[in-house]
Amino acid sequence: MYIQSVDIKKCRILENVVLRFQTPNDITAQTNGNVINIIAGVNGCGKTSVLRAIYEEFNTPWNTRESIIEFDAFSLNGQFLKHDKKLNVFGQFWHRQRQSIDKGEAKLSDEKLIFLPSQQSFDFQPQAQLELKYVFAQEVNKRTLLGNAEFYIKEYVLGLERKSDIADPKARTRAAINEFNSHFLDADLLTQLDDLSAEQFNRPLFKNVAGERVTIDQLSDGEKQLYARVIALMMLQPQDSIILIDEPEIALHPAWQQKIMSIYANIGQNNQFIIATHSPQIIASVPYQNLILLRKNPETRQIEAVHCDQPPTGVDVNSILSEVMGAEAQPKKLTDLYRQYREFVENKEEHSPQALQIKSELLKLESPESAFMQEMQFLIDLRED
Ligand SMILES: Nc1ncnc2c1ncn2[C@@H]1O[C@H](COP(=O)(O)OP(=O)(O)OP(=O)(O)O)[C@@H](O)[C@H]1O
Ligand SMILES: [Mg+2]
Repeated sequence: MYIQSVDIKKCRILENVVLRFQTPNDITAQTNGNVINIIAGVNGCGKTSVLRAIYEEFNTPWNTRESIIEFDAFSLNGQFLKHDKKLNVFGQFWHRQRQSIDKGEAKLSDEKLIFLPSQQSFDFQPQAQLELKYVFAQEVNKRTLLGNAEFYIKEYVLGLERKSDIADPKARTRAAINEFNSHFLDADLLTQLDDLSAEQFNRPLFKNVAGERVTIDQLSDGEKQLYARVIALMMLQPQDSIILIDEPEIALHPAWQQKIMSIYANIGQNNQFIIATHSPQIIASVPYQNLILLRKNPETRQIEAVHCDQPPTGVDVNSILSEVMGAEAQPKKLTDLYRQYREFVENKEEHSPQALQIKSELLKLESPESAFMQEMQFLIDLRED
């Protein structure tokens, strides 16, 4: 199941906003069929509203309200369907899905929509048992799934051990734990799963950088964000599903922000991710075709979606910041000093007292080996040769 395009008729500040998404059939999909769409834009431009609108459309019984979204093209069970109001394709699908849930026929692996809203803090409330049943539209929050993360890790490791043919029990546990950690390998985490507690009913124990063992509620904020959200998604075993994630970068170091999407995108197959983010690292990690910018149209004064149809001049974080996000990649003071010093060099006046003054200001901010200072030296050398 995936969405090719939506027309949000009215949701909060969004009115008649049309968004086109990349799908698992497009060339920008990974080899496992997962594809990542990014929605960027300034605070309050409606990123969360887009995710909410899509989620609500899937979550609300079809006949009970006026629809806020029109799905222009929508794919189900590998079949591409053009939206047709008269046929009400989505309504029929919704109804079928509901019936199969009611009859108990729905499997966890069936296609679904998953929504991970932005989440500032986590209270882990260990559950006595892992209760996972298929829900067509699943919001992941404190009440659902996140509290189960600890239980899931334990079951995941024990499940791997059961299937393992390694005879030595210690080696068997170690292999299972290594496999769990391998999902997070890219992130190069300082704290990793270390063991299941023999004293505390197999409670997962992590080892931190000081070599101390900690439980899941003692992880750092960033580690909680990463483990809890990724594990919640792993629990749902998504395939052929739509996955909405709001601000996956929360509490993550830029190096992790760079890697987080590759960790998500290795979960399941043929999933369509739609991500709302402020992170230049995340934006830089996807092909430009997968990027949608929400912005205010200066003439109509309404929010519109801009699809990137050509690559930015660079995909480094600085270019993304200035070209895509409209933010200064460097402090304004530095930009001004660069401009002034460059002028002196171009006029061969770099030895003048004013130029030396500017240079000394510059060298308070960055080293003589900076790219800019090297470029200026190059210009001077060129001239003197
Ligand atoms: N429940 C609501 N009802 C009505 N308007 C809302 C509601 N929630 C948010 N808004 C308004 O909709 C606009 C867009 O909000 P939204 O949360 O979608 O922005 P955003 O792009 O996600 O911003 P941010 O980057 O700060 O998260 C804001 O002006 C906000 O005040
Ligand atoms: Mg938001």
